[in-house]
Amino acid sequence: TILIVDFGSQVTQLIARRVRETGVYCEIHPFSSAADKLETLKPRGIILSGGPASVIEDGSPQVDRKLLEYGVPVLGICYGQQAMCVALGGVVEPGYVREFGRAEVRIEKDCSLYDGVWELDHSYQVWMSHGDKVSEIPDGFAVVGTSPGAPFAMIANEERKFFGVQFHPEVYHTPDGARLYANFVHKICGCDASWTMAAYREQAVAAIREQVGDKKVICGLSGGVDSSVAAILIHEAIGDQLTCIFVDHGLLRKNEADEVVSMFRHQYNIPLVHVDASKEFIGELEGVVEPEAKRKIIGRLFIETFEKEAHKIGGVEFLAQGTLYPDVIESVSFTGGPSVTIKSHHNVGGLPERMNMKLVEPLRELFKDEVRKLGRELGLPEHFVGRHPFPGPGLAIRLPGGVTREKLDILRQADAIYLDEIRKAGLYDTIWQAFAVLLPVQTVGVMGDGRTYESVCALRAVTSVDGMTADFYAFDMNFLGRAATRIINEVKGINRVVYDVTSKPPGTIEWE
Ligand code: XMP
Repeated sequence: TILIVDFGSQVTQLIARRVRETGVYCEIHPFSSAADKLETLKPRGIILSGGPASVIEDGSPQVDRKLLEYGVPVLGICYGQQAMCVALGGVVEPGYVREFGRAEVRIEKDCSLYDGVWELDHSYQVWMSHGDKVSEIPDGFAVVGTSPGAPFAMIANEERKFFGVQFHPEVYHTPDGARLYANFVHKICGCDASWTMAAYREQAVAAIREQVGDKKVICGLSGGVDSSVAAILIHEAIGDQLTCIFVDHGLLRKNEADEVVSMFRHQYNIPLVHVDASKEFIGELEGVVEPEAKRKIIGRLFIETFEKEAHKIGGVEFLAQGTLYPDVIESVSFTGGPSVTIKSHHNVGGLPERMNMKLVEPLRELFKDEVRKLGRELGLPEHFVGRHPFPGPGLAIRLPGGVTREKLDILRQADAIYLDEIRKAGLYDTIWQAFAVLLPVQTVGVMGDGRTYESVCALRAVTSVDGMTADFYAFDMNFLGRAATRIINEVKGINRVVYDVTSKPPGTIEWE
């Protein structure tokens, strides 16, 4: 195990993913309480993350000495490097030039951290993002690499196995970063690559059996990857003590509901209650325009429907949820005040409390990409596992102006054509999310010899790492032309297609 000490960097989770990609388990804990975890975690190495604060300011987060005295290798990144230096008697100064973005590190000394990855007397591209910099290194440390803005871009104390880098090896723009992490965890910390999804599957199955015993579990399926993987894993552990409830709100994409139902019933033989509640959902949504109002209605109806079905089953003690690790990590916050709610993404908030059930959350330790790997391990088809994220409120938030059954049908057809073209062009996996939005705007067109007066369809596609920020995807114009022509020709009710070129921020990914 590797312990990652979080100083509040935006990319701390990326560090964890890099470490796990090397086949080594790791956990993230806030700088203020990480040392308390030493005893239970028994880490073989410690990574100190970056962070937004300045170590030279009063009251800035410090490295707990217990971490440095625990006797295992330590890697400090950016703020982590500076905090480690200060703790060991070095000096950090404000940088006169803030360095941000691509930089070159020149390697000047041998070091086990880059062994087999980099070579002496060569320069390599890295990603920097810092204001302060180390100006005097602690005793026992040597300079390994320098950059124009950071004379101590990479430092090492080989004897104690303490390393510091001013750049960010976890980000994509440091091309060799993943291999530096692999060196640290395998060669320097001596961890072997035993964190695999096959091993996780075995452990999780045993843990579920232990937790649940002979009691009954219910699981709400959404059609997405997380709840499906959770359900399949639980079924593997306890068989038919599990019942899945699929509340079909009628707001899914084309064929999605059928696919989930047949997969569960026929491929996995998992008991499944399929509730067609589309009439209620669409009925209550009629005339509702405000996005948050739509979310509330959908969330409430979902809970009511789910509860009714759960009562019919009777005697259920556990509720399964597809909670992921990013929802569990305790975050380090320097801003203090409450953040503004842009959108309420908690589709079924309050369900567990209301139903008074114990939770089974077999994915609590996993990142999204690991859930996908586990899904493959459990035999889920590739096109299902690799599917783009889809919001809980479904197509309802892709129909500005209000939801009707007719508009849903039109949107579903346009969306399916768009995604089909994206798959055919081989772009599906490069894009984070792509979808169509049906606008409440009608425009004039001409088809054949006649005038048309029909709706506008907007297409959206973005790239992203985590959905928090996103760039619009720059399609080739020929691709867009092809998709637009097919949509207008094949979907009755749409006579114009536009493409959304807004990034996030300032836009959000969904339109509502
Ligand atoms: P936004 O639109 O906030 O979306 O940039 C970020 C990611 O979250 C998804 N999203 C939702 N997911 N319930 C969900 O489960 C919601 O109400 C919701 N709204 C947005 C969105 O599809 C994107 O992946």
